Amino acid sequence: MCALSVPAIALTRGTNGEEVLVPQLGLGTYKVSDDEAERVVCDALEVGYRHIDTAQMYGNEAGVGRAIKASGLARQDLFITSKLNNPNHRREDALRSLDATMEALDLEVLDLFLVHWPLADSPGIDLVDTWRTMIEILHSGRVRAIGVSNYQPEHLNRIVEATGVVPAVNQVELHPWLTQSELRSVHEQLGVVTESWSPLGRGRLLTDPKVIEIADAIGVSPAQVVIRWHLQSSLVVIPKSTHRERMTANADVVGFTLDDAHMTALDALDQGVRTGSHPDRIQV
Ligand code: A2P
Repeated sequence: MCALSVPAIALTRGTNGEEVLVPQLGLGTYKVSDDEAERVVCDALEVGYRHIDTAQMYGNEAGVGRAIKASGLARQDLFITSKLNNPNHRREDALRSLDATMEALDLEVLDLFLVHWPLADSPGIDLVDTWRTMIEILHSGRVRAIGVSNYQPEHLNRIVEATGVVPAVNQVELHPWLTQSELRSVHEQLGVVTESWSPLGRGRLLTDPKVIEIADAIGVSPAQVVIRWHLQSSLVVIPKSTHRERMTANADVVGFTLDDAHMTALDALDQGVRTGSHPDRIQV
């Protein structure tokens, strides 16, 4: 068993000034049931994944925790992310839900904790109050870094202006059909790492004729082309698969490169197409 040879990206928002490194390629676990999660994450860890992305909303943290334990891997070799669920934004609920997350994952410290959705227009929820609770959680030492998910530029600007604390990460839907270029330039200005969810467009990108054409030209699979595009675009990427052979292939992306023409052609596929929800439509 060996770790994947993909680079790590530094997250500078760790407590005590420590540098927090996130492996650029991880495994997404959206829609993996708790029963299935143990087998899926065990497979991923055996294949060499060291970065696992879960969420309170997915209901599979306990299965992920069982797989971590069964792997026998050293804690410091793993990078585990979870996310604050929508009903848990109020301070007391957030703190209680983090207790439940840590118990389910059977961990003392989480590597990255994200606010799952901004809920900017939900009555009784205040984006800045939620972020202040996240900062309190960071200072408690129970998580190594905090960030957000599905935040748009105005959400990021609001929390940073109010608190001066920049999220380490914004995890958003991102793939060649939805390149999020405006958001990524805001991330660059603020120093936020961009992480791509549904990096394969829930698998739909794999039938895009341009992706297939590039894959055939290089002699790799469409999924490998798309994952390589994320890596070469300096994005943290968490493709989901429940199949071990696909996990293996999805991680086998360091033995080839996309040239400038391929990268430009993939960038040009951007049509603003979402496969998941728009952040404005998610309310508690
Ligand atoms: P499965 O879990 O059955 O392997 P995304 O990460 O963009 O959300 O995409 C996940 C979807 O893509 C899942 O339906 C997953 O199916 C599928 N998928 C992941 N990797 C591959 C692959 N290498 N080839 C084909 N489908 C894949």
